[in-house]
Amino acid sequence: MKELILVLTGAGISAESGVPTFRGEGGLWKQFKPEELATPQAFFKNPKLVWEWYDWRRQIISKAEPNEAHLLLAELERRLENFFIITQNVDGLHQKAGSKKVIELHGNIWRVKCTNCKEEYELYEVPLKEIPPKCKYCGGLLRPAVVWFGESLPEKALSESFALAKNCKLFLVIGTSGVVYPAGYLPFLAKQHGAKIVEINPESTPISKIADVVIREKASKGLRLFEKML
Ligand code: APR
Repeated sequence: MKELILVLTGAGISAESGVPTFRGEGGLWKQFKPEELATPQAFFKNPKLVWEWYDWRRQIISKAEPNEAHLLLAELERRLENFFIITQNVDGLHQKAGSKKVIELHGNIWRVKCTNCKEEYELYEVPLKEIPPKCKYCGGLLRPAVVWFGESLPEKALSESFALAKNCKLFLVIGTSGVVYPAGYLPFLAKQHGAKIVEINPESTPISKIADVVIREKASKGLRLFEKML
């Protein structure tokens, strides 16, 4: 089996598609307070407010197209036998670009979960006609099927990601500030197990100090340069 190349992506890879990042200039956490919008407590205190914010993000994402970086990663998956993407993003742009082997650590903004009957399904309606939306099975209150602060990550996604990080030879980290765990731990775990770390990010992050190669570029240009290294 060919050596495993693993990719971890964050909001930065979707920046060139017009999807706002969370931190850095123009980031969502500069305009909004995460504790007011991205926690279970905030949701149950004011589901309408939280859903208005997610509906606004879904409207932005529905107009976003995969950019060259997403497309290059989909191309690399087709070309390389042993290649996986682990993403913190919930925008679904990797899949829209054609990537098949994608692990979504923080869920997906197009999936909803019923807080009553626990059913989970895809809801692409945008904008939402009813806010907060109700479950099509039981009429209960729906929530976005994304991971909020203080919540645990999907068990299967997490265990698969840890196993891949321990077994990869090359770990490419693109467009993440590396400050949110456990996703941010994956590059360190890979390094401990002998992987080469390549970071593509216009800014320095905590991952930069363990990177064997740092490409201080935006995702699209950085991936074009990375491809030449292969
Ligand atoms: N190309 C590559 N990287 C970019 C670009 C770009 N065009 N523009 C910005 N970046 C980088 C920034 O320098 C920053 O390091 O992308 C990173 C974005 O960091 P964050 O906004 O913190 O996003 P992310 O790391 O994905 O956040 C992790 O935090 O709020 C939670 O659940 C949310 O999944 C998210 C998690």
